[in-house]
Amino acid sequence: MANAPVTVTITGAAGNIGYSLLFRIAEGAIFGPDTPVNLRLLEIPPAMNAAKGVAMELADSAFETLYDVDIFDNADAAFEGTNLALLVGAMPRKKGMERADLIEANGGIFGPQGKAINDHAADDVKIVVVGNPANTNALIAAHAAPDVPNERFTAMMRLDHTRAISQLAEKVGARNEEIKKMVIWGNHSADQYPDISYATVAGKPAVDLVDDAWLTDEFRPRVANRGAEIIEVRGASSAASAASGAIAQSRDWVRGTAEGDFTTIGLYSDGTHYGVPEGIVFGFPGVAKDGKWEVVDGLEISAATQAGIDKNVAALQEEYEIIKSLGIA
Ligand code: NAD
Ligand code: LMR
Repeated sequence: MANAPVTVTITGAAGNIGYSLLFRIAEGAIFGPDTPVNLRLLEIPPAMNAAKGVAMELADSAFETLYDVDIFDNADAAFEGTNLALLVGAMPRKKGMERADLIEANGGIFGPQGKAINDHAADDVKIVVVGNPANTNALIAAHAAPDVPNERFTAMMRLDHTRAISQLAEKVGARNEEIKKMVIWGNHSADQYPDISYATVAGKPAVDLVDDAWLTDEFRPRVANRGAEIIEVRGASSAASAASGAIAQSRDWVRGTAEGDFTTIGLYSDGTHYGVPEGIVFGFPGVAKDGKWEVVDGLEISAATQAGIDKNVAALQEEYEIIKSLGIA
Protein backbone atom coordinates (compact mmCIF):
# COMPACT_ATOMS: atom_id res chain seq x y z
CA MET A 1 0.00 0.00 0.00
CA ALA A 2 1.38 3.42 -0.99
CA ASN A 3 0.82 5.27 2.28
CA ALA A 4 1.51 4.62 5.96
CA PRO A 5 -1.45 3.35 7.99
CA VAL A 6 -3.64 5.79 9.89
CA THR A 7 -5.32 5.09 13.21
CA VAL A 8 -9.03 5.78 13.64
CA THR A 9 -10.82 5.48 16.98
CA ILE A 10 -14.59 5.11 16.99
CA THR A 11 -16.54 5.39 20.23
CA GLY A 12 -19.92 3.70 20.50
CA ALA A 13 -18.58 1.32 17.89
CA ALA A 14 -21.14 -1.41 18.57
CA GLY A 15 -24.08 0.96 18.18
CA ASN A 16 -26.24 1.65 15.18
CA ILE A 17 -24.15 4.40 13.62
CA GLY A 18 -20.96 2.46 14.36
CA TYR A 19 -22.28 -0.52 12.41
CA SER A 20 -22.81 1.64 9.32
CA LEU A 21 -19.59 3.56 9.77
CA LEU A 22 -16.93 0.94 10.38
CA PHE A 23 -17.23 -1.08 7.20
CA ARG A 24 -17.04 1.98 4.99
CA ILE A 25 -14.00 3.36 6.80
CA ALA A 26 -12.39 -0.06 6.56
CA GLU A 27 -12.95 0.01 2.81
CA GLY A 28 -11.24 3.38 2.35
CA ALA A 29 -14.18 5.82 2.29
CA ILE A 30 -12.30 8.47 4.28
CA PHE A 31 -8.62 8.05 3.46
CA GLY A 32 -8.88 6.49 0.01
CA PRO A 33 -7.71 3.23 -1.52
CA ASP A 34 -3.98 3.78 -0.91
CA THR A 35 -4.10 4.36 2.85
CA PRO A 36 -4.59 1.43 5.21
CA VAL A 37 -6.45 2.00 8.46
CA ASN A 38 -6.10 0.58 11.94
CA LEU A 39 -9.43 0.70 13.76
CA ARG A 40 -9.69 1.09 17.53
CA LEU A 41 -13.20 0.51 18.83
CA LEU A 42 -14.21 1.98 22.18
CA GLU A 43 -17.27 0.63 23.95
CA ILE A 44 -18.65 0.33 27.46
CA PRO A 45 -18.26 -3.06 29.19
CA PRO A 46 -21.83 -4.32 28.54
CA ALA A 47 -21.32 -3.80 24.80
CA MET A 48 -17.90 -5.44 24.53
CA ASN A 49 -19.29 -8.69 23.15
CA ALA A 50 -21.27 -6.85 20.51
CA ALA A 51 -18.08 -4.94 19.60
CA LYS A 52 -16.22 -8.27 19.33
CA GLY A 53 -18.90 -9.52 16.94
CA VAL A 54 -18.49 -6.42 14.77
CA ALA A 55 -14.71 -6.94 14.76
CA MET A 56 -15.27 -10.55 13.63
CA GLU A 57 -17.42 -9.31 10.75
CA LEU A 58 -14.77 -6.75 9.81
CA ALA A 59 -12.20 -9.55 9.71
CA ASP A 60 -14.52 -11.72 7.60
CA SER A 61 -14.79 -8.93 5.03
CA ALA A 62 -11.00 -9.09 4.39
CA PHE A 63 -10.82 -5.45 3.33
CA GLU A 64 -7.50 -4.69 1.65
CA THR A 65 -7.31 -1.29 3.36
CA LEU A 66 -7.94 -2.66 6.87
CA TYR A 67 -4.87 -3.67 8.86
CA ASP A 68 -5.77 -4.01 12.56
CA VAL A 69 -8.92 -3.91 14.65
CA ASP A 70 -8.67 -3.58 18.45
CA ILE A 71 -11.42 -3.29 21.01
CA PHE A 72 -11.27 -1.32 24.25
CA ASP A 73 -13.40 -0.37 27.19
CA ASN A 74 -10.77 2.12 28.33
CA ALA A 75 -10.50 5.54 26.68
CA ASP A 76 -6.79 6.06 27.40
CA ALA A 77 -5.89 2.90 25.52
CA ALA A 78 -8.46 3.45 22.77
CA PHE A 79 -7.04 6.85 21.77
CA GLU A 80 -3.38 5.79 21.73
CA GLY A 81 -1.86 7.18 18.53
CA THR A 82 -5.23 8.21 17.08
CA ASN A 83 -5.19 10.37 13.95
CA LEU A 84 -8.97 10.57 13.59
CA ALA A 85 -11.41 10.25 16.50
CA LEU A 86 -15.10 9.76 15.75
CA LEU A 87 -16.98 10.33 19.00
CA VAL A 88 -20.29 8.62 18.41
CA GLY A 89 -21.23 6.98 21.74
CA ALA A 90 -23.26 9.30 23.96
CA MET A 91 -25.80 9.24 26.74
CA PRO A 92 -29.27 9.41 25.16
CA ARG A 93 -31.94 11.65 26.64
CA LYS A 94 -34.12 9.63 29.00
CA LYS A 95 -37.66 10.33 30.17
CA GLY A 96 -37.79 13.18 32.67
CA MET A 97 -34.25 14.35 31.92
CA GLU A 98 -33.77 18.12 31.72
CA ARG A 99 -31.31 19.58 29.22
CA ALA A 100 -28.85 20.26 32.07
CA ASP A 101 -29.07 16.60 33.21
CA LEU A 102 -28.33 15.43 29.68
CA ILE A 103 -25.36 17.76 29.34
CA GLU A 104 -24.02 16.70 32.74
CA ALA A 105 -24.34 13.00 31.84
CA ASN A 106 -22.49 13.61 28.59
CA GLY A 107 -19.87 15.64 30.41
CA GLY A 108 -19.02 12.38 32.17
CA ILE A 109 -18.30 10.81 28.76
CA PHE A 110 -16.84 13.59 26.60
CA GLY A 111 -14.71 15.12 29.38
CA PRO A 112 -12.70 11.95 30.03
CA GLN A 113 -12.56 11.16 26.30
CA GLY A 114 -11.24 14.67 25.59
CA LYS A 115 -8.57 14.17 28.24
CA ALA A 116 -7.63 10.77 26.83
CA ILE A 117 -7.29 12.35 23.37
CA ASN A 118 -5.15 15.09 24.88
CA ASP A 119 -2.85 12.59 26.58
CA HIS A 120 -2.63 9.79 24.02
CA ALA A 121 -3.68 10.78 20.49
CA ALA A 122 -1.28 11.63 17.65
CA ASP A 123 -0.20 15.27 17.31
CA ASP A 124 -2.30 15.70 14.17
CA VAL A 125 -5.49 14.26 15.71
CA LYS A 126 -8.78 15.38 14.15
CA ILE A 127 -12.01 14.94 16.09
CA VAL A 128 -15.56 14.62 14.76
CA VAL A 129 -18.27 14.59 17.43
CA VAL A 130 -21.47 12.86 16.39
CA GLY A 131 -23.04 11.97 19.78
CA ASN A 132 -25.70 14.45 20.90
CA PRO A 133 -25.83 17.22 21.90
CA ALA A 134 -22.99 17.22 19.36
CA ASN A 135 -21.93 20.90 19.47
CA THR A 136 -21.73 21.08 23.24
CA ASN A 137 -20.18 17.61 23.55
CA ALA A 138 -17.44 18.82 21.20
CA LEU A 139 -16.95 21.85 23.43
CA ILE A 140 -16.74 19.68 26.54
CA ALA A 141 -14.10 17.48 24.92
CA ALA A 142 -12.14 20.53 23.72
CA HIS A 143 -12.05 21.95 27.25
CA ALA A 144 -10.65 18.69 28.57
CA ALA A 145 -7.87 18.75 25.96
CA PRO A 146 -5.83 21.93 26.50
CA ASP A 147 -2.91 20.68 24.37
CA VAL A 148 -5.06 20.01 21.31
CA PRO A 149 -5.99 23.13 19.29
CA ASN A 150 -9.69 23.93 19.75
CA GLU A 151 -10.32 23.98 16.01
CA ARG A 152 -9.61 20.24 15.84
CA PHE A 153 -12.84 19.53 17.76
CA THR A 154 -15.63 19.62 15.20
CA ALA A 155 -19.31 18.80 15.58
CA MET A 156 -21.04 16.79 12.89
CA MET A 157 -23.38 19.12 11.01
CA ARG A 158 -22.91 17.43 7.66
CA LEU A 159 -26.12 15.43 7.94
CA ASP A 160 -28.13 18.64 8.38
CA HIS A 161 -26.31 20.00 5.33
CA THR A 162 -27.12 17.01 3.11
CA ARG A 163 -30.71 16.94 4.36
CA ALA A 164 -31.05 20.54 3.17
CA ILE A 165 -29.50 19.73 -0.23
CA SER A 166 -31.84 16.80 -0.65
CA GLN A 167 -34.97 18.81 0.21
CA LEU A 168 -34.03 21.62 -2.17
CA ALA A 169 -33.12 19.20 -4.96
CA GLU A 170 -36.47 17.49 -4.65
CA LYS A 171 -38.37 20.77 -4.62
CA VAL A 172 -36.75 22.20 -7.76
CA GLY A 173 -36.33 18.91 -9.62
CA ALA A 174 -32.52 19.05 -9.62
CA ARG A 175 -29.87 16.47 -8.86
CA ASN A 176 -28.06 16.71 -5.53
CA GLU A 177 -24.77 17.32 -7.33
CA GLU A 178 -26.19 20.42 -9.00
CA ILE A 179 -26.67 22.15 -5.63
CA LYS A 180 -23.74 24.11 -4.22
CA LYS A 181 -23.11 26.47 -1.31
CA MET A 182 -25.76 25.36 1.16
CA VAL A 183 -25.19 26.28 4.78
CA ILE A 184 -26.69 25.34 8.15
CA TRP A 185 -25.91 27.99 10.73
CA GLY A 186 -25.62 27.12 14.39
CA ASN A 187 -26.53 24.07 16.36
CA HIS A 188 -27.30 20.46 15.45
CA SER A 189 -30.72 20.87 17.00
CA ALA A 190 -34.17 22.08 16.01
CA ASP A 191 -32.86 25.66 16.47
CA GLN A 192 -30.51 25.38 13.47
CA TYR A 193 -30.93 27.79 10.57
CA PRO A 194 -30.79 26.05 7.18
CA ASP A 195 -29.98 28.80 4.67
CA ILE A 196 -30.18 28.77 0.87
CA SER A 197 -29.21 32.46 0.49
CA TYR A 198 -25.91 31.62 -1.25
CA ALA A 199 -26.95 28.30 -2.77
CA THR A 200 -26.98 27.72 -6.49
CA VAL A 201 -28.83 25.12 -8.52
CA ALA A 202 -26.99 24.30 -11.74
CA GLY A 203 -25.37 27.72 -11.41
CA LYS A 204 -28.60 29.69 -10.83
CA PRO A 205 -29.40 31.35 -7.48
CA ALA A 206 -31.61 28.98 -5.50
CA VAL A 207 -33.60 31.89 -4.03
CA ASP A 208 -34.99 32.62 -7.52
CA LEU A 209 -36.41 29.10 -7.80
CA VAL A 210 -38.45 28.81 -4.60
CA ASP A 211 -40.75 31.13 -2.70
CA ASP A 212 -40.44 32.46 0.83
CA ALA A 213 -43.51 30.59 2.04
CA TRP A 214 -41.91 27.24 1.11
CA LEU A 215 -38.67 28.24 2.81
CA THR A 216 -40.40 29.35 6.00
CA ASP A 217 -43.20 26.83 6.28
CA GLU A 218 -41.63 23.71 4.79
CA PHE A 219 -37.92 23.73 4.06
CA ARG A 220 -36.45 25.12 7.27
CA PRO A 221 -38.71 23.28 9.74
CA ARG A 222 -38.41 20.05 7.72
CA VAL A 223 -34.62 20.11 7.71
CA ALA A 224 -34.33 21.24 11.33
CA ASN A 225 -36.74 18.56 12.55
CA ARG A 226 -35.66 15.78 10.21
CA GLY A 227 -33.95 13.83 12.98
CA ALA A 228 -37.20 13.69 14.95
CA GLU A 229 -39.12 12.78 11.77
CA ILE A 230 -36.76 9.86 11.11
CA ILE A 231 -37.16 8.65 14.70
CA GLU A 232 -40.94 8.78 14.33
CA VAL A 233 -41.07 6.98 10.99
CA ARG A 234 -38.19 4.54 11.42
CA GLY A 235 -38.63 3.92 15.13
CA ALA A 236 -34.94 4.65 15.70
CA SER A 237 -32.54 7.52 15.28
CA SER A 238 -30.93 8.03 11.86
CA ALA A 239 -27.92 5.76 11.58
CA ALA A 240 -26.71 5.08 8.03
CA SER A 241 -27.28 8.70 6.99
CA ALA A 242 -25.46 9.88 10.11
CA ALA A 243 -22.57 7.56 9.26
CA SER A 244 -22.54 9.02 5.72
CA GLY A 245 -22.37 12.52 7.22
CA ALA A 246 -19.48 11.59 9.52
CA ILE A 247 -17.61 10.03 6.61
CA ALA A 248 -18.18 13.03 4.32
CA GLN A 249 -17.07 15.49 7.01
CA SER A 250 -13.96 13.44 7.78
CA ARG A 251 -13.10 12.78 4.12
CA ASP A 252 -13.33 16.48 3.25
CA TRP A 253 -11.19 17.38 6.24
CA VAL A 254 -8.51 14.90 5.22
CA ARG A 255 -8.68 15.26 1.45
CA GLY A 256 -10.17 18.76 0.97
CA THR A 257 -13.55 20.14 -0.09
CA ALA A 258 -14.48 20.44 -3.76
CA GLU A 259 -13.37 23.57 -5.61
CA GLY A 260 -16.12 26.16 -6.07
CA ASP A 261 -18.28 24.88 -3.25
CA PHE A 262 -18.47 25.06 0.51
CA THR A 263 -20.03 22.85 3.13
CA THR A 264 -21.24 23.20 6.70
CA ILE A 265 -18.81 22.52 9.50
CA GLY A 266 -19.46 22.65 13.26
CA LEU A 267 -16.36 24.57 14.35
CA TYR A 268 -15.08 26.10 17.55
CA SER A 269 -15.77 29.82 17.18
CA ASP A 270 -12.75 32.07 17.61
CA GLY A 271 -15.01 35.14 17.70
CA THR A 272 -13.94 36.51 14.31
CA HIS A 273 -16.70 35.23 12.01
CA TYR A 274 -20.20 36.62 11.53
CA GLY A 275 -20.37 38.06 15.04
CA VAL A 276 -20.51 34.61 16.63
CA PRO A 277 -18.82 34.92 20.03
CA GLU A 278 -15.73 32.97 20.91
CA GLY A 279 -16.07 29.74 22.81
CA ILE A 280 -19.04 27.90 21.30
CA VAL A 281 -19.04 25.20 18.61
CA PHE A 282 -21.12 26.62 15.76
CA GLY A 283 -22.21 25.55 12.28
CA PHE A 284 -20.48 27.78 9.71
CA PRO A 285 -19.96 27.71 5.95
CA GLY A 286 -16.52 26.17 5.58
CA VAL A 287 -13.91 24.76 3.26
CA ALA A 288 -11.16 22.30 4.09
CA LYS A 289 -7.70 22.61 2.57
CA ASP A 290 -4.41 20.97 3.54
CA GLY A 291 -6.05 19.27 6.52
CA LYS A 292 -7.54 22.47 7.99
CA TRP A 293 -11.03 23.93 8.10
CA GLU A 294 -11.51 27.59 7.24
CA VAL A 295 -14.72 29.54 7.67
CA VAL A 296 -15.92 31.16 4.43
CA ASP A 297 -16.10 34.85 5.30
CA GLY A 298 -17.69 37.76 3.51
CA LEU A 299 -21.14 36.33 2.81
CA GLU A 300 -23.87 38.95 2.92
CA ILE A 301 -26.12 38.35 5.90
CA SER A 302 -29.82 39.15 5.52
CA ALA A 303 -32.00 40.15 8.47
CA ALA A 304 -33.55 36.66 8.47
CA THR A 305 -30.17 34.92 8.48
CA GLN A 306 -28.97 37.24 11.25
CA ALA A 307 -32.01 36.32 13.33
CA GLY A 308 -31.24 32.64 12.72
CA ILE A 309 -27.62 33.11 13.76
CA ASP A 310 -28.63 35.07 16.87
CA LYS A 311 -31.10 32.39 17.97
CA ASN A 312 -28.42 29.71 17.70
CA VAL A 313 -25.81 31.81 19.48
CA ALA A 314 -28.27 32.26 22.37
CA ALA A 315 -29.06 28.51 22.53
CA LEU A 316 -25.41 27.46 22.42
CA GLN A 317 -24.37 30.09 24.94
CA GLU A 318 -27.04 28.73 27.26
CA GLU A 319 -25.51 25.24 26.92
CA TYR A 320 -22.07 26.74 27.50
CA GLU A 321 -23.36 28.38 30.70
CA ILE A 322 -24.63 24.97 31.83
CA ILE A 323 -21.24 23.32 31.35
CA LYS A 324 -19.54 26.23 33.11
CA SER A 325 -21.95 25.99 36.05
CA LEU A 326 -21.27 22.25 36.26
CA GLY A 327 -17.54 22.93 36.32
CA ILE A 328 -17.05 21.00 33.05
CA ALA A 329 -15.61 24.06 31.31
P1 NAD B 1 -26.77 3.63 19.75
O1 NAD B 1 -27.47 3.69 21.08
O2 NAD B 1 -27.20 2.63 18.75
O3 NAD B 1 -25.22 3.40 20.01
C1 NAD B 1 -24.51 4.14 20.93
C2 NAD B 1 -23.35 3.26 21.39
O4 NAD B 1 -22.54 4.05 22.24
C3 NAD B 1 -23.80 2.04 22.19
O5 NAD B 1 -23.25 0.87 21.63
C4 NAD B 1 -23.26 2.32 23.59
O6 NAD B 1 -22.86 1.15 24.27
C5 NAD B 1 -22.08 3.23 23.28
N1 NAD B 1 -21.62 4.07 24.38
C6 NAD B 1 -22.36 4.68 25.34
N2 NAD B 1 -21.56 5.33 26.20
C7 NAD B 1 -20.29 5.15 25.76
C8 NAD B 1 -19.02 5.55 26.24
N3 NAD B 1 -18.89 6.27 27.34
N4 NAD B 1 -17.93 5.17 25.54
C9 NAD B 1 -18.03 4.41 24.43
N5 NAD B 1 -19.20 3.97 23.94
C10 NAD B 1 -20.33 4.35 24.60
O7 NAD B 1 -26.83 5.11 19.18
P2 NAD B 1 -26.55 5.59 17.69
O8 NAD B 1 -27.79 5.47 16.89
O9 NAD B 1 -25.31 4.93 17.19
O10 NAD B 1 -26.33 7.16 17.93
C11 NAD B 1 -25.20 7.62 18.65
C12 NAD B 1 -25.30 9.12 18.92
O11 NAD B 1 -25.31 9.84 17.70
C13 NAD B 1 -26.56 9.54 19.66
O12 NAD B 1 -26.19 10.52 20.62
C14 NAD B 1 -27.40 10.18 18.58
O13 NAD B 1 -28.33 11.11 19.10
C15 NAD B 1 -26.33 10.85 17.76
N6 NAD B 1 -26.69 11.26 16.40
C16 NAD B 1 -26.15 12.42 15.95
C17 NAD B 1 -26.42 12.84 14.66
C18 NAD B 1 -25.82 14.12 14.12
O14 NAD B 1 -26.21 14.53 13.02
N7 NAD B 1 -24.90 14.79 14.80
C19 NAD B 1 -27.27 12.09 13.85
C20 NAD B 1 -27.78 10.90 14.33
C21 NAD B 1 -27.49 10.49 15.63
C1 LMR C 1 -30.57 13.31 13.88
O1 LMR C 1 -30.45 14.49 13.52
O2 LMR C 1 -30.96 12.42 13.14
C2 LMR C 1 -30.26 12.96 15.32
O3 LMR C 1 -29.47 13.94 15.92
C3 LMR C 1 -31.55 12.73 16.07
C4 LMR C 1 -31.29 12.20 17.46
O4 LMR C 1 -31.88 12.79 18.39
O5 LMR C 1 -30.55 11.22 17.63
